[in-house]
Amino acid sequence: MTFDVTVSGSDIVFPCEPDETVLDAAERAGFSIPYSCRKGVCSTCEGGLVAGELRVRGQGLARGPATRVLLCQARPCSPVEIAPKRIVQRAAPMRKVITTKVHRLTRPNADVVVLHLRFPSGVRAKFQAGQYLKVLMDDGDSRNYSMANAPHESDGVQLHIRHVPGGRFSEGVLAGLEKGDTLNVELPYGEFSLDEEVDHPVILLGTGTGMAPLKSIIEDQIKRGGSRPMHLFWGHATATTCTSATCRHNGPGACPGSASLRCFPSPSQAGPAAPVGCTARFSRITPTWVPIKCMPAVIRS
Ligand SMILES: Cc1cc2nc3c(=O)[nH]c(=O)nc-3n(C[C@H](O)[C@H](O)[C@H](O)COP(=O)(O)OP(=O)(O)OC[C@H]3O[C@@H](n4cnc5c(N)ncnc54)[C@H](O)[C@@H]3O)c2cc1C
Ligand code: FES
Repeated sequence: MTFDVTVSGSDIVFPCEPDETVLDAAERAGFSIPYSCRKGVCSTCEGGLVAGELRVRGQGLARGPATRVLLCQARPCSPVEIAPKRIVQRAAPMRKVITTKVHRLTRPNADVVVLHLRFPSGVRAKFQAGQYLKVLMDDGDSRNYSMANAPHESDGVQLHIRHVPGGRFSEGVLAGLEKGDTLNVELPYGEFSLDEEVDHPVILLGTGTGMAPLKSIIEDQIKRGGSRPMHLFWGHATATTCTSATCRHNGPGACPGSASLRCFPSPSQAGPAAPVGCTARFSRITPTWVPIKCMPAVIRS
């Protein structure tokens, strides 16, 4: 039996199957509710339940009125009225599940693996710079990783994966992966992207493998000849934990592909001024070493 989901204070109503999450049903109907992990971890999708009943994985049965319901984990038991933080009309995402092949695996440092996955011949996947994919594991579980390549490189994806001690994927699965192995992924996901409606200068701020979606955004802007000034602040635990093999900054100056990009690698601890950077394309950015604790002041200035 399908239940109606009504959005409080609007004329939006969409159907939701009992085994479907409210977030998925909204997307299927062409509406976007804010989300990030879709796993009940980040709370980005949190909203109110005005009336009705929802089964919420990890929270149990929620009866309206209730607050702080995770809409990515909530399935209806009755018609419901919800109050999401935001809801906008958007074309339903065209996602694909693709069986990829491991093309290359590199270890720029002890903590990070850069994984290049290739799609089968003739298969392409559309995504926006800044989005992420789900790696689908054999038991039905999944892990999210941001695409680090720009969307025009659409025959595969590059992922930057940080080692999490004891992690099922980043330690368990990744350790056994070799060139030619297959990995199922679903993409694209995520709402993190550059606002193209404005032309303000851009400040990109990330730490460690959080650089991946920023790299995609920067490379996309370079490819498209974007002229917005961009300032990249990239924090690292130490000067040597950045993905220096993927990313090489050799000398002073702005990026040759984009004169408007400046980069500020930001180790949080003192360390040798090792070359760091993003891609061969950024090969002449000055590594201006900024300790993480000073980043707010640098950004203000
Ligand atoms: C939108 C999104 C994009 C992401 N993009 C990337 C990316 O580009 N690169 C990347 O490396 N990761 C990324 N992640 C995190 C990634 O999805 C996994 O959570 C991470 O790799 C751990 O998975 P695992 O299977 O190795 O560990 P799990 O088996 O899930 O966890 C093992 C243990 O480590 C803890 N743990 C899990 N993650 C972390 C963490 N980040 N820090 C500290 N402890 C942790 C868990 O609580 C658990 O106790 C992203 C997450 C989200 C939500
Ligand atoms: S808790 Fe992260 S999107 Fe729902």
